Amino acid sequence: MHDQPPAAGPAPALFSWEFATDPYPAYAWLREHSPVHRTRLPSGVEAWLVTRYADARQALADQRLSKNPAHHDEPAHAKGKTGIPGERKAELMTHLLNIDPPDHTRLRRLVSKAFTPRRVAEFAPRVQELTDRLIDGFVTKGSADLIHEFAFPLPIYAICDLLGVPREDQDDFRDWAGMMIRHGGGPRGGVARSVKKMRGYLAELIHRKREHPGDDLISGLIRASDHGEHLTENEAAAMAFILLFAGFETTVNLIGNGVHTLLRTPDQRARLQESLAAGERGLLETGIEELLRHDGPVELATWRFATEPLTIGGERIAAGDPVLVVLAAADRDPARFDGPDTLDLTRRDNQHLGYGHGIHYCLGAPLARLEGQTALAGLLTRLPDLRLAVDPDELRWRGGLIMRGLRTLPVEFTPNE
Ligand code: HEM
Repeated sequence: MHDQPPAAGPAPALFSWEFATDPYPAYAWLREHSPVHRTRLPSGVEAWLVTRYADARQALADQRLSKNPAHHDEPAHAKGKTGIPGERKAELMTHLLNIDPPDHTRLRRLVSKAFTPRRVAEFAPRVQELTDRLIDGFVTKGSADLIHEFAFPLPIYAICDLLGVPREDQDDFRDWAGMMIRHGGGPRGGVARSVKKMRGYLAELIHRKREHPGDDLISGLIRASDHGEHLTENEAAAMAFILLFAGFETTVNLIGNGVHTLLRTPDQRARLQESLAAGERGLLETGIEELLRHDGPVELATWRFATEPLTIGGERIAAGDPVLVVLAAADRDPARFDGPDTLDLTRRDNQHLGYGHGIHYCLGAPLARLEGQTALAGLLTRLPDLRLAVDPDELRWRGGLIMRGLRTLPVEFTPNE
């Protein structure tokens, strides 16, 4: 718990081990003393970090900031080594998060026709069933690693189901996704192989669904048309890939970070448990939003590049400069949120930026909410005395650039049959 203005002094070390464990003091310093801050990222790229809520919200909606990496003047020697999506010609990389209007508008409209809130609502019983089945897997043991046994498999099976990946193939996806999450910023070989396998599989699946459509999202994507325009097979494959990719690690960390925060905030956790026992949903709904604001999975929004010179928070940004909007810092800005470092599950004035803002606002937010709420309610109801099995200082955070999440979350509880 911080909630105090940060002392002046030298700029804090960013991207260190301490920073990965608790970045919030460094973000408080940046918001106060250098709210639009130029820094060298671990990859060697120079980028701007935007940390105040008002600047962040404005930057997310600013059309002069492009998502297309072609706008970045990457030095030739750094090509492909910077973490900026360099494989821009690879068809799987031409997806919503890397493109601008008008292509973005067209593709987003098409996918929105298939990925509707109604489809997500109809999916609720399946998410409940998955949650129950995963908890059944460890409920009698009295201990578990909630990342590997619960938070990790839940969203991958959920998205596979939604897309229409047959059950017998879903464990392959689990392996490929596991490789991508484990080595996200590390060795590229295994990740590249997993992406390749996924691409091959998706291409074939799309082909099959074209011949034999079903009631799934991929069939919906193939059917969706916009003034006579259809998605090409490459566009459909890129769309399926981004749904998997954007909807997977985020949800793992929403569940992991959320459970971790609740276990360390016993009064709030007790209130939530009481309200669930009374059959109420209200606190769960506001609570998930608050957990997202307080320690959300997406620390920084994905890359943006200035297409022309512009000013953010009084700082002059040159054309071609990368801009990273630090959602985790904006969502703790005391200029926007009362007592921003304090978890308050009842918080109502909570327009956090955890799902982004503007035209790239998270497409999967309804699904993420459904999964987050079902997962937390399932755990707290079936394992009422859930507690951390290790000292909090022993927990290790992944320390990636964009995502914030735990490597493992060992817990204990009274086993039940
Ligand atoms: C975009 C967060 C779950 C699909 C985004 C963005 C954020 C975000 C911050 C905007 C990034 C930017 O502007 O650079 C989250 C969080 C999630 C979550 C915190 C879970 C707690 C999901 C799920 C799906 C999904 C479950 C789909 C199955 C997408 C897609 C985009 C997106 C497709 C790109 C939209 C566009 O560019 O138009 N998400 N997301 N997300 N998200 Fe999510």
